[in-house]
Amino acid sequence: MILVLDFGSQYNQLITRRIREFGVYSELHSHKMTAEEIKELNPSGIVLSGGPNSVYGENGFRMDTAIFDLDIPVLGICYGMQLMTHHFGGQVERTQQREYGKADVSVKNDSLLFQKTPVEQTVWMSHSDKVIEAPSGFQVDAVSPACPVAAISDRNRKLYGVQFHPEVRHTEYGNDLLRSFVFDVCEATADWTMEHFIDLEVEKIRAEVGERNVLCGLSGGVDSSVVAALLHRAIGDQLTCIFVDHGLLRKDEGDDVMRFLGDGFNMNIIRVDAKDRFLTKLSGVDDPELKRKIIGNEFIEVFDEEASKLENVDYLAQGTLYTDVIESGTETAQTIKSHHNVGGLPEDMELKLIEPLNTLFKDEVRELGTELGVPEHIVWRQPFPGPGLSIRILGALDEEKLEIVRESDAILRDEIKEAGLDRDIWQYFTVLPNIKSVGVMGDERTYDHTIGIRAVTSIDGMTSDWARIPWHVLEKVSTRLVNEVSHINRVVYDITSKPPSTIEWE
Ligand code: XMP
Repeated sequence: MILVLDFGSQYNQLITRRIREFGVYSELHSHKMTAEEIKELNPSGIVLSGGPNSVYGENGFRMDTAIFDLDIPVLGICYGMQLMTHHFGGQVERTQQREYGKADVSVKNDSLLFQKTPVEQTVWMSHSDKVIEAPSGFQVDAVSPACPVAAISDRNRKLYGVQFHPEVRHTEYGNDLLRSFVFDVCEATADWTMEHFIDLEVEKIRAEVGERNVLCGLSGGVDSSVVAALLHRAIGDQLTCIFVDHGLLRKDEGDDVMRFLGDGFNMNIIRVDAKDRFLTKLSGVDDPELKRKIIGNEFIEVFDEEASKLENVDYLAQGTLYTDVIESGTETAQTIKSHHNVGGLPEDMELKLIEPLNTLFKDEVRELGTELGVPEHIVWRQPFPGPGLSIRILGALDEEKLEIVRESDAILRDEIKEAGLDRDIWQYFTVLPNIKSVGVMGDERTYDHTIGIRAVTSIDGMTSDWARIPWHVLEKVSTRLVNEVSHINRVVYDITSKPPSTIEWE
């Protein structure tokens, strides 16, 4: 097992999943873990994650430095490398200037970490402070134009540090570096699979639930369908699924979901029409975080009400992913947006939560779903956020705006499928930015809405790039949107990656 200590980077769980991809089990734990506790776990290696603080700052997260004496290999990433440098007497320069994005590094020394990678390589940097002098006993393994010390190592003590983020896919050889750390430095063995995960989770769920019943919030999306399948494997008929139609779904989605879940699954499913209560609560609300919280709360109220109609229900299962948890903010990570199923939960909710997917990423969930026998057309649906179309309408929403995004989204989906691009693009949807502009249609002046197309490629939703949809497809979509959807007179295409943007606009 490789232990990752969490110093607050948005990317820290990506480190664990990269390692799991190599077939080696990995867990993320708080940076407060002591050397004694780590000794108990007996990991083959430790990774110190990045984080937003400065080692000199009052709020800088500290660690039990006795960890360095455990004779377990350590890899410090970004803040982790700065902590290591600071502890061993090297020099970390405090700067307010951020280096953010791709950078070129040159490998300068023999190092187990870089042995399978070329001398010149592109990496992803995201830091302010930087190491300017390696501690004694360490060699400098790589440099970049902005960082005189981009990587360090002390082979004897098995201590390694990199200023950049090998876990982010923009780091060209990041996987090779992590692989070298896991297998060449830590000498870990690859014996972890998705089947293990299923066995482990089934056992945990049975032990927790006993004879009680469980409700599962089912949206028909990938995550909730997979969680339902996992729960069903563990507890069979003790599971009842609730599909809440909050009126913020895509065109015809409610009926579709009921149809394909009926086909593919043999589970108890109750459909609740909750459109009016959601839209009433959201009326006039324009703050994105407030919208998300209202939706999260309302979901739970519906679940609580449904639970009270059934017997013996103590638990609510949700398909919360790690992405939802990290973006909603944790003890160490900042809130980017409150995912409805995490940051939106009311404090006084009565049901206890079961969230077996909350250490996994979307692509891992797809693998899990396939392993569980969930039908392919469900496993490969594009992700759709719990708050639905509400976060694709900037500001307050109303029926007219919902109709515009619903209709435009249906046209875009239609054309992407027609062009055979639906598997290649991670997500594709339209957004209503609430901007009106002047147009001319049929010799008449119009003053109407702009619609935005958002289409991104991604592996796990943590980072993404804008999809290079061929011009002729975009042209057809644009023509159809203006002609077929009332109140649109302009179409724009969002060409930002994540970061710095996010995939959804709110
Ligand atoms: P962002 O917009 O943060 O989204 O780049 C990352 C992924 O998460 C989806 N998303 C959500 N999923 N509840 C969900 O179940 C939510 O509240 C939520 N907000 C964003 C988004 O569609 C993308 O796939």
